[in-house]
Amino acid sequence: MKNLENKVAVITGAASGIGRSLALKLAKEGCMLALSDVNEDGLAETVSMTGLPSEKVFIKKLDVSNEADFNTFASDVVSKFGSADILINNAGVNHNGKVIDTPTEDLKWIFDINFWGVVYGSRAFLPHMMKRPGASLVNISSLFGLVGVRGQSAYCATKFAVRGFTESLRQELKLAKAEMDVISVHPGGIKTNIAKNARMVTANGAASDAELKKFASLFEKVAKTTADQAADTIIDGIKKSRSRVLIGNDAKLLDKIQRFFPAGYDKIFAKIL
Ligand SMILES: NC(=O)c1ccc[n+]([C@@H]2O[C@H](COP(=O)([O-])OP(=O)(O)OC[C@H]3O[C@@H](n4cnc5c(N)ncnc54)[C@H](O)[C@@H]3O)[C@@H](O)[C@H]2O)c1
Repeated sequence: MKNLENKVAVITGAASGIGRSLALKLAKEGCMLALSDVNEDGLAETVSMTGLPSEKVFIKKLDVSNEADFNTFASDVVSKFGSADILINNAGVNHNGKVIDTPTEDLKWIFDINFWGVVYGSRAFLPHMMKRPGASLVNISSLFGLVGVRGQSAYCATKFAVRGFTESLRQELKLAKAEMDVISVHPGGIKTNIAKNARMVTANGAASDAELKKFASLFEKVAKTTADQAADTIIDGIKKSRSRVLIGNDAKLLDKIQRFFPAGYDKIFAKIL
């Protein structure tokens, strides 16, 4: 999709981080926006930052883990704008902790948002987008959808699942001759609120505020790419109809290591991560 002028872009998780940067940049490209998030205040802030007039923007509080609400959101967007040209399933959360310490409930929580949110969004919008030649469905996976990392099993599992879902869907749509792109996005560390909003567990149960703060400040040091840079790379991927988009030198390097040593990359990661 080379020209984004007057295209309808739908973004989940638009109140913060990558979602907010995408909203601001797509508004500059001339898109009309349909934005959602569980955080209504943050969402309102994003809208005011875009400076778009009300006829060019639609916002709704949406928890992506609620299928019925996602379907209603899709109907609302289609009623307002006629259809959708770009859907970015961006909303997501992180979980930190060892497998042995992670309660099943935490796994269900993160799968409901990171995986099922992507499934519900894709299914709600696909029937409309398949009729829009050049439409782009963009699912935000992660570098951790390409490699497994200790302490991130729950998050990695959701992001591997998003990649599998997205790559399979792309093949189905190609067979169905749908003229649309299906893009899997794999960011490395991006400086956003993701670590601050993460759930974390230790051998003693839920992590304390101090432990969570330590995790967030460590993440802040490791994450080298800004949300604006991430959004630029994603938009470039949409314009160039890429199937897979890697963001940041960390993602590119670790992806290469994993390709060269698919069965032994964990030994290298143990030294560098
Ligand atoms: N920051 C990184 O290093 C990084 C790396 C790889 C992938 N990602 C992915 O990028 C996406 C965006 O994350 P971010 O880094 O901008 O984090 P962020 O925390 O800054 O933004 C995430 C947004 O999602 C919203 N959200 C959370 N749960 C929701 C729900 N149930 N329904 C609707 N909205 C919900 C939050 O309110 C927030 O506005 C996520 O899918 C994340 O997994 C981030």
